[in-house]
Amino acid sequence: MSEDKVVITPLTDGPNQVAGGVVVKDADGTVIKEAETVYLCRCGFSEDKPFCDGAHKKHNWKS
Ligand code: FES
Repeated sequence: MSEDKVVITPLTDGPNQVAGGVVVKDADGTVIKEAETVYLCRCGFSEDKPFCDGAHKKHNWKS
């Protein structure tokens, strides 16, 4: 696998890890974060969507 590709990894009982240089935009196209790696909520409990804020642990969410 090429090192320059974005890799999405669903973490066990947690967020999707998106690694490889990421730009996250809101619905209007405004950049809200640029980072090498981001963690995107997939449990629905985060108060900082689309990012994981750790709430999955409090809710004992299971993937
Ligand atoms: S996956 Fe962590 S808060 Fe949703």
